[in-house]
Amino acid sequence: MPTQPPIRSLPVHPWNPDSWRDCPIRQVPTYPDQAKLEEMERRLQRYPPLVFAGEARRLKAQLALASEGKAFVLQGGDCAESFSDFTANVIRDTFRVLLQMAVVLTFGASLPVVKMGRMAGQFAKPRSSDTETVGGVTLPSYRGDIVNGPEFSPASRIPDPARMEFGYFQSASTLNLLRAFSSGGYADLHEVHRWNLDFAERSPLAARYQVLAQRIDETLSFMKACGMTSATTRDMRETDFYISHEALLLPYEQALCRVDSTTGDWYGCSAHFLWIGDRTRQPEGAHVEFLRGLQNPLGMKVGPTQNPDELLRVLDILNPRNEAGRITLISRMGADKVGDKLPPLVRAVENAGRKVLWLCDPMHGNTINAGGNSVGVSLKTRNFDAILHEVRDFFDIHTAEGTWAGGVHVEMTGHDVTECTGGAHRLSETDLTARYETFCDPRLNAEQSLELAFLVAEELKTRRLPGVSPALASQQPMS
Ligand code: PEP
Ligand code: CO
Repeated sequence: MPTQPPIRSLPVHPWNPDSWRDCPIRQVPTYPDQAKLEEMERRLQRYPPLVFAGEARRLKAQLALASEGKAFVLQGGDCAESFSDFTANVIRDTFRVLLQMAVVLTFGASLPVVKMGRMAGQFAKPRSSDTETVGGVTLPSYRGDIVNGPEFSPASRIPDPARMEFGYFQSASTLNLLRAFSSGGYADLHEVHRWNLDFAERSPLAARYQVLAQRIDETLSFMKACGMTSATTRDMRETDFYISHEALLLPYEQALCRVDSTTGDWYGCSAHFLWIGDRTRQPEGAHVEFLRGLQNPLGMKVGPTQNPDELLRVLDILNPRNEAGRITLISRMGADKVGDKLPPLVRAVENAGRKVLWLCDPMHGNTINAGGNSVGVSLKTRNFDAILHEVRDFFDIHTAEGTWAGGVHVEMTGHDVTECTGGAHRLSETDLTARYETFCDPRLNAEQSLELAFLVAEELKTRRLPGVSPALASQQPMS
């Protein structure tokens, strides 16, 4: 019987929703009008929660299965949602591509895919510098629409608490539509699959993607013959879809935390799943302090500066009972570093018997500046091959360590933007200016996202062959 490892360093002080205010904090805006901030916090505290604690518990149970190799996770959406780009089409198209990706991944993994959007609340952004200088003028950096405006003007860059209320209502409205799509017929598996067939036909790599799409087609026909159709089977016409964002803006997150009446526990009710960014994961920092008191499933980004000892310390703080599904570690090393940086962390967590789910974010370690000369301005971009490379290395590392590569976390959109280079259409750096629309980091467009899903599905299929990972293969259903 595995023995429960001892807890190494539990904080001795009691938690309360305010206790983060006594801790060192990074990446927070300085609000010039404190009274307005406090008034906004009080107002948000009275508003209804956006999610119900029971939903967060259900997600936690699904993530627990994923941590044991019995499910795969797809988390994706905008780097930063925006107030000005808030339309039904934007929400629908991102949701649709996530569903399309999920169907392909479900087939590849022969496992349920847990779907989480970086949606309905992904507004606050950490920045590498507090200020931005353009043409000799220095202003506070843009920190996401829930904090200040992207326009480079003194007025727009002043952090304004009123933006939190707009963020709350936009999240509520987005979530409302996502719930309607999830259960109202839009997520019908046959429809989603038809969109995928369409994609596979149009792709320059049609021959490759059509093989997998046609196998899914045959499977659906077989299921239909067995009497499993949208009319007879709920899971074929509806889906569970969860929302998530980086819990960066703590005054907002605190104002939306609530005591769950059924358990008496505190939950962050701005989203089902909240994560801590790579810049705010210090064990003694305010973000770790705040999130340790909430019972939601939590994520933490793990970048190349994370060391094993500190990682174990944070895990003890965030998950003292070593509960499965509680912690998702989102590795974002970069294609050139993942081979060196990830294995020691995976090994340390494994040796300490800590239960975590590992996801791969192949975006944030692979951001580069496109050559300023060729496109006139220096745009941030990411190359499709580097992204795929990091995902593949992530899978290889987990295979070698005998651990489960539990899913992917991507920045993507349902629109035909030109922000990341490469992919089947071979977007180049000179193409970037055509439709470069992101408010923050470059996103995969709809086709690049689907391609990634098809390629990851192929990886998953290959790795499920007997002998790849005996420990995990024995846990998986036969296909
Ligand atoms: C992000 O997910 O947009 C982000 C800022 O990530 P990280 O914390 O990994 O840099
Ligand atoms: Co980002």
